[in-house]
Amino acid sequence: MEDYLEEEFFLLCALYGKSGKMPMKDERGDLDVSEVVKPVQATLSSLKMLDVGKWPIFSLCSEAELQLVRQACVFGSASNELLYTTVNDEIFVLGTNCCGCLGLGDVQSTIEPRRLDSLTGKKIACLSYGSGPHIVLATTEGEVFTWGHNAYSQLGNGTTNAGLVPYHISTNLSNKQVIEVACGSYHSLVLTSDGEVFAWGYNNSGQVGSGSTANQPIPRRVTGCLQNKVVVNIACGQMCSMAVVNTGEVFVWGYNGNGQLGLGSSGNQPTPCRVAALQGIRVQRVACGYAHTLVLTDEGQVYAWGANSYGQLGTGNKSNQSYPTPVVVEKDRIIEIAACHSAHTSAAKTQGGHVYMWGQCRGQSVTLPHLTHFSSTDDVFACFATPAVTWRLLSVEPDDHLTVAESLKREFDNPNTADLKFLVDGKYIYVHKVLLKIRCEHFRSSLEDNEDDIVEMSEFSYPVYRAFLEYLYTDSISLSPEEAVGLLDLATFYRENRLKKLCQQTIKQGICEENAIALLSAAVKYEAQDLEEFCFRFCINHLTVVTQTSGFAEMDHDLLKNFISKASRVGAFKN
Ligand SMILES: *[C@@H]1O[C@H](CO)[C@@H](O)[C@H](O)[C@H]1NC(C)=O
Ligand SMILES: *[C@@H]1O[C@H](CO)[C@@H](O)[C@H](O)[C@H]1NC(C)=O
Ligand SMILES: *[C@@H]1O[C@H](CO)[C@@H](O)[C@H](O)[C@H]1NC(C)=O
Ligand SMILES: *[C@@H]1O[C@H](CO)[C@@H](O)[C@H](O)[C@H]1NC(C)=O
Ligand SMILES: *[C@@H]1O[C@H](CO)[C@@H](O)[C@H](O)[C@H]1NC(C)=O
Repeated sequence: MEDYLEEEFFLLCALYGKSGKMPMKDERGDLDVSEVVKPVQATLSSLKMLDVGKWPIFSLCSEAELQLVRQACVFGSASNELLYTTVNDEIFVLGTNCCGCLGLGDVQSTIEPRRLDSLTGKKIACLSYGSGPHIVLATTEGEVFTWGHNAYSQLGNGTTNAGLVPYHISTNLSNKQVIEVACGSYHSLVLTSDGEVFAWGYNNSGQVGSGSTANQPIPRRVTGCLQNKVVVNIACGQMCSMAVVNTGEVFVWGYNGNGQLGLGSSGNQPTPCRVAALQGIRVQRVACGYAHTLVLTDEGQVYAWGANSYGQLGTGNKSNQSYPTPVVVEKDRIIEIAACHSAHTSAAKTQGGHVYMWGQCRGQSVTLPHLTHFSSTDDVFACFATPAVTWRLLSVEPDDHLTVAESLKREFDNPNTADLKFLVDGKYIYVHKVLLKIRCEHFRSSLEDNEDDIVEMSEFSYPVYRAFLEYLYTDSISLSPEEAVGLLDLATFYRENRLKKLCQQTIKQGICEENAIALLSAAVKYEAQDLEEFCFRFCINHLTVVTQTSGFAEMDHDLLKNFISKASRVGAFKN
């Protein structure tokens, strides 16, 4: 009962967050430009933030913590555990800490992220987890660490004592570089850079592939008909194991009670068997659900087999299949398949970026691939899987491509690529003639025959001029309302109507009793009628306080006359 209450507590906290509400995308969106642009200039990778908005447990992290997250794994039987890495290569964990699966050396639950100091300096290449849960992690150096539940020796250290801290496996793997890891409920599989598979842990159904049902206490190479093959991808279902080799063949072993091995039978296999029915089909990837299997071919097609009680095979009915059955998604190629050993959910992504899901989806059985609104298969698991756990390590896109807009942003005020500099108030601003000519009518003519690489400006202040030039690179401004008044002047001068609008917006959003008169004067001066009306209304609505400000006392005589007559016309002085 106590366990149950603790889990409920975690779920509630995760759902509502410490602040009592879910973080909305918009709340995170209101960074000012300088915050966004500075890191862009520093390093490219720090620009990319991991999008974890769909994972409730992340509401236990502060905004500042979320900014730093680069990899993440949500696991545990009730999605109650979280491990993530930061841009500084630190590893943090939080959650109920079932069986010490947070690796902190104790079994204390924690609602705040705690740093996993024992792995300081290690970078995670891949990670998988079992149902105990236990964790198997490979570093970018190819070392393997395990911790957590160990009743079936799934930590591979020769014992069955729960592993409260990360254990570095050396036996049989010391000269190997591990590049992929996969966990079933209670067994572990790793793939080395030379295409060998090692397995250990629970072996009640032969999932370790050793040829016996005794649990395997230390890593043992899976041999038999895999002996001379080069494996390129591995996966584990609840109690079975799969390997794709470089010729496109699929080898399977372990539990087969629901036909999840695809051999046309339901007998368990203690050693690897080739899926003969896939003869002539070249498989590239395999993914296993709890008791079903998906493969992706080199032609972008998906085959499924195994348990089908929730429609997880996507065949349109719920009968189990012990042979590979094609899944018809759409004409477009499939480029990614997704499943997780603890769920009956399937997902796939097409080349065109469409994401489909089927199987158990929030308790419903979806027997045909259903087009979602998501852009990632990870979101399917965050929103629809039971439990809602990650099917792979979430990572910031390795893609360091910048869009045209992002590239231009980076080049503003960059002395290394600039061919023109403005000298304003004794300070330089570095720009590119061609971009200015493309973006601004004024510069198109003024820079036409300009041979100089330096232009001195005195009409406007440095912050105003800088904001203007930056706007030409970024389409946006970030200024205080008072500075925006200066920029409004410039925008009027250069006839930049969109910039004028942005300035007015900034001013409206920044108006207060103290600055209202100054802003009103500016609106009048720059003939911004809409803004003038807005400032006037604000002054009328706050008349008592506004008339006591220094801005009001120092108001220009004509403007004051005008203000009073307009105010009396709208009846402001009636009482
Ligand atoms: C295996 O891990 C357990 C739990 O951390 C530990 O007690 C034991 O000493 C380890 N065994 C070896 C051989 O390191
Ligand atoms: C694993 O289980 C199979 C039978 O299911 C058995 O033949 C094999 O020897 C077991 N492996 C080990 C390492 O004990
Ligand atoms: C792994 O270690 C065990 C025990 O030390 C040994 O029997 C086995 O042959 C080793 N090698 C492989 C490849 O499994
Ligand atoms: C299909 O597999 C499930 C196990 O996942 C099992 O409960 C069900 O009875 C099987 N159905 C048939 C018709 O064998
Ligand atoms: C379920 O769908 C599969 C694949 O289309 C088909 O082979 C099988 O006959 C169907 N089973 C039933 C009971 O309709």
